[in-house]
Amino acid sequence: MTKKKTNPRRPLVAGNWKMHRTASDTRALIQDIVKRVERVAYADLVVCPPFTSLPAAHETLGRHSTLALGAQTMHQAKEGAFTGEISGPMLREFGVRYVILGHSERRQFDNETNEKVAAKAIAAIHYHLRPIVCVGETLSQREANETTAIVESQLRESLTGFPLDQHEELVIAYEPVWAIGTGKVATPAQANEVHERIRKILIQIFGDHGTAIRILYGGSVKPENAPDLMAQPEIDGALVGGASLDARAFFDIIEAVRPARASDHD
Ligand code: 13P
Repeated sequence: MTKKKTNPRRPLVAGNWKMHRTASDTRALIQDIVKRVERVAYADLVVCPPFTSLPAAHETLGRHSTLALGAQTMHQAKEGAFTGEISGPMLREFGVRYVILGHSERRQFDNETNEKVAAKAIAAIHYHLRPIVCVGETLSQREANETTAIVESQLRESLTGFPLDQHEELVIAYEPVWAIGTGKVATPAQANEVHERIRKILIQIFGDHGTAIRILYGGSVKPENAPDLMAQPEIDGALVGGASLDARAFFDIIEAVRPARASDHD
């Protein structure tokens, strides 16, 4: 059995629904998740449905506070001639508290560059949204031994100008591109090694406060592999794609971040 760790950082599990679930399907899924997570007090829980499902999710959640809402991206401006875009204040209106930025799918298909991510992260803070900034290497970059350099430059450039006193609002997600939606998961040791590197950079940027910033792992997280991944000292939670669309699987992953209790020790 995986030995659970005692981690000073509060775990966070976020479900990235990507382009799945209409507004009407959203209600049922949110209800199912809420029913299961009602008593979870040991972690912050977030679901990130598509924009069009946010109002339904918000309405279904009502005053329920165990589950927070997140968006999958946002535009940095408050408003303007930006066809197809959604701003921070628009998200806030539907109770959104978190926003994923720089997801590899948006970096790949929608030109969400480090520079844009940096501007969006600053705007997110301005509009009281917690940015979940994603970084991660492709398979060819890993094979060329470029993982550290890529992750480091993505992180530094995506956090350029980030207000240093807002470290508590920031969440980082390490998502190796080759592990996303492929069923290929990074080994716990591989993931932890990159998380350690990210931690060092966060400490360089934020000083001691860098030790308190949560770093999530994402990429084919499933109930079967979550306990081993989440037991790693530098993995503070998960950013879950496919498995977050199944309330039971999502809940099982959440269980994997439950901190050790005194009675669990030998
Ligand atoms: P999968 O869990 O489906 O691999 O997706 C991971 C992801 O991209 C979460 O943002």
